Order: sequence, then structure tokens, then C-alpha cells
Amino acid sequence: MKHLENKIAVVTGGTRGIGKAISLALAESGAHVYALYARSRKNAEILEEEASGRGFKITTIRGDLSHDQSYNQTVRQLHESCEHVDVLVHSAASGVHKKAMDLSERHLKWTFEINFFVAHKLTTELIGKMGRGSKIIGITSPGGTRVIPKYAAVASTKGAMEALFRHYALELAPQGIAVNLVCPGLVMTEAAKALPELEQMLKMTLDYTPSGQLTTPDQVAELVRFLTTDAAGQVVGQNIIIDGGKGLLA
Ligand SMILES: NC(=O)c1ccc[n+]([C@@H]2O[C@H](COP(=O)([O-])OP(=O)(O)OC[C@H]3O[C@@H](n4cnc5c(N)ncnc54)[C@H](OP(=O)(O)O)[C@@H]3O)[C@@H](O)[C@H]2O)c1
Repeated sequence: MKHLENKIAVVTGGTRGIGKAISLALAESGAHVYALYARSRKNAEILEEEASGRGFKITTIRGDLSHDQSYNQTVRQLHESCEHVDVLVHSAASGVHKKAMDLSERHLKWTFEINFFVAHKLTTELIGKMGRGSKIIGITSPGGTRVIPKYAAVASTKGAMEALFRHYALELAPQGIAVNLVCPGLVMTEAAKALPELEQMLKMTLDYTPSGQLTTPDQVAELVRFLTTDAAGQVVGQNIIIDGGKGLLA
């Protein structure tokens, strides 16, 4: 029997990039996955087709989670569809690429809304459906602790998320719910391709990554999948870096 058979997983940002790889990995392990996304129906359809071709259960739900109305609608749908939630993965993220000194309050509020407040609202909304053995996993970034040029807005949300998740981990561990973070290095997704000065960042990443390779969405998904196993039950409140060793260098 697959380890997530009869389990339900909710993956925000679950239809493309890293989130898509996570949705497929969890569905392959037997979970019924609810993959949330904001806009791209095309990506959702491609994922649903791939899932049904491979005999996986993936349901996509569209809704911009940073807007109250579509957030409420998404949550209603999840409540109606999910008797329980066993795995909750926060992968959705967005944000403006600007220097810290060029960030307005509006830029920061908007970035915090999707990357930070939505993660908290959804966690507290669904926690009542999560029992012993459940897992909450946040996808963070090296920007949460280090400087990536013009990444100040997203970086701030990741740092805040890391702090919040440490508290989640401590508060929820006695209930048998394990909370962890996964921190990938540069992964070539659509979001990464939109980074300013990508060429330069790509070269620097490859030059300074001891393994000499970029991290792939599937490698991140495998790590997330491991965190959903019983074997990972004692992994609590960690921020696991998957970057080919780049973060080791001073
Ligand atoms: N790529 C990297 O190098 C890298 C490195 C470290 C950490 N990360 C983190 O890994 C996670 C996934 O990154 P990625 O590169 O795979 O991103 P991506 O390709 O841009 O995918 C982002 C996902 O989030 C969804 N999303 C964005 N805004 C939303 C909103 N307002 N409401 C609902 N859903 C929303 C998108 O939906 P639509 O498709 O409909 O727009 C999409 O499914 C993020 O948390 C990111 O910070 C990425």
C-alpha cells in the first residue's frame, strides 16, 4: 500500500513549477491532491490530464488567494470536498522584484498577503481537519536568511514565514502534527525565469554550487514526499536546504 493512500493533500501553487512536482509526487504516493492555483487554467488542465493518464487523483481549484472573495470560495470548496486534510503544502508565492529602497508599502503589503497571510489564514482554517500524523510543509527560499538582489519583498515574506512556522512546529508537535520548511536553491521554473539579471544569477549559482548542478522541481518534491512519511515523524520545525551545497559557502 502506498503511504498516502486514503489521505488528502492540499498544495497551494500546485499546478506549476515546484508545486506541480509536489502535487504529482504526493498523488503518486496515493493521496487525493487538491492543487490550488490563481490564474492559469491551461496549466491546471495539463496537470489534470497528466494525473488521470497516470491514474492519480488530482483536483485543481482556481482562485486568487490574495483576494477575499476567491479565498473564501476556495476555502468553502475545500471544506465541502475534504473530510480531513493530512498534508498541507504552502508553495504559492508571488511578489515584486525591486530593491528594498524602491519598495512602497503597497508592494510589501501585496507580497505579504499571498506569501505570508494566506499561508497563515489557510493553515488556521484547515487545522481543525488535521489529526495526528498530519504534516504541514512550507516552501521557503535562501532569501529568507540571505540577500538576493532585488528580492527584498519576497525575501521579507520568507523570513517572516520561517519565524511563524517555528512557532507552528512547537505548538502543533504535541498534537502529532509535524511542521517543516523546505528551502530550495535556484530552480528553473517560470518564476525563476522572470528574475531580474537571471543570466548573472544562473552563472553565479552554478559557479558556487559544489554539486555543480541546479536543483530540480522533482528533487524538491522528493524531499517533500519524504517529509510526509512516518519515517520523517521526528523531523520537526526544520528548514531543510536543498541546493547542492551552495549555502555552505561564505
Ligand atoms: N524557483 C526557485 O528558484 C525557487 C527557489 C526557492 C524557493 N522557491 C519557492 O518555491 C515555491 C514555488 O516556486 P515556483 O518557482 O515553482 O513558482 P511559480 O512557478 O511561479 O508558481 C507559483 C504558483 O503559485 C500560484 N500563485 C501565485 N500567486 C497566487 C495567488 N495570489 N493565489 C493563488 N495562487 C497563487 C501560481 O498560480 P498560477 O499558475 O495560476 O499563476 C503558481 O501555481 C515558491 O514559494 C517560491 O518562493 C522557488
